Amino acid sequence: MSSAGRGIFLTEILDNRALYPDTHVISIKRPAGFPDTEPGGFISIRAVENTTPLLLRPFSIMWQDDEHIEILVKVVGPGSEALSKKRTKEPVKILGPLGGRTFPAPSQRPVILIAGGTGIAPIAYAIKKWSAAGVSNAVLIYGAASSVGIARDILDEVVIESHYATLDGSLGFEGDAVELFKSLALDNSLPEGDIYSCGPRGMVRALCDAVAGLGGMYKGRFAHHYTSLEAVMACGLGACRGCTVPLKGDGESALKTVCSDGPVFDAEEIDWEGWTW
Ligand SMILES: Cc1cc2nc3c(=O)[nH]c(=O)nc-3n(C[C@H](O)[C@H](O)[C@H](O)COP(=O)(O)OP(=O)(O)OC[C@H]3O[C@@H](n4cnc5c(N)ncnc54)[C@H](O)[C@@H]3O)c2cc1C
Ligand code: FES
Repeated sequence: MSSAGRGIFLTEILDNRALYPDTHVISIKRPAGFPDTEPGGFISIRAVENTTPLLLRPFSIMWQDDEHIEILVKVVGPGSEALSKKRTKEPVKILGPLGGRTFPAPSQRPVILIAGGTGIAPIAYAIKKWSAAGVSNAVLIYGAASSVGIARDILDEVVIESHYATLDGSLGFEGDAVELFKSLALDNSLPEGDIYSCGPRGMVRALCDAVAGLGGMYKGRFAHHYTSLEAVMACGLGACRGCTVPLKGDGESALKTVCSDGPVFDAEEIDWEGWTW
């Protein structure tokens, strides 16, 4: 994504809806001059009057149109908690749009979208944006701890083939999104296509292992696996190098920043063994 038009914007909350107790869909007024983004792009945000935490917090863009930018916020600490309490018209500061590489638009091949937990945010953006552009050959695999965590209504009216996994078995397959992916692949229930994933790091790594176990990307049915990574961030701009991820390759040049070289990477290029921090 180009950094043209990137900036710090003072804007306000338009709507804050609790999907379930610890997770909110927050709609923010799109500031004048805020550029268009692609799925995988993100913003850093902070409630203006809060001095704690000092740093802005990164959240994937879940939807964007002329008036709104929408994010999905799960409460895990002070920054997300402060955001979850924001009400309509209250001010927020955003830095963005961030990310140097977003999800590539699908080719003619089918897309298999795999989301775990709040990883549904950039995946939902992709589904809505690409459906509007006429992409119809997409399958969603979406896992969460329980049915309460499966945010089905954020896809609005867009209908795609969807498979759900819950750890407690309260909706769909009992297990996680990767186990469901494996089960569907072994059943020949998935099309040959490209994988787009987002979720906790452990999920993406397990997904790479699962693909390898099925015969590898190129021997198997999947030509590409693009993943949007999450990492703890400070500057969000590639300057502090606090969010590095190692890619397979030699030395320093293989260390990339999630915030500005990513957040989207070719999953097969990530050096999972070497990512020890
Ligand atoms: C590119 C990107 C996109 C993201 N998109 C979303 C999203 O759509 N929805 C959402 O709810 N969250 C998302 N996150 C994670 C979100 O940024 C963190 O949950 C948030 O910064 C936590 O801030 P806090 O002050 O509430 O908690 P903190 O006190 O900062 O952290 C609370 C706990 O969460 C851990 N943590 C913080 N950030 C991360 C992270 N990035 N990955 C794993 N563990 C973390 C900390 O180590 C700590 O244990 C995204 C992160 C990145 C980098
Ligand atoms: S957060 Fe500073 S380089 Fe990524």
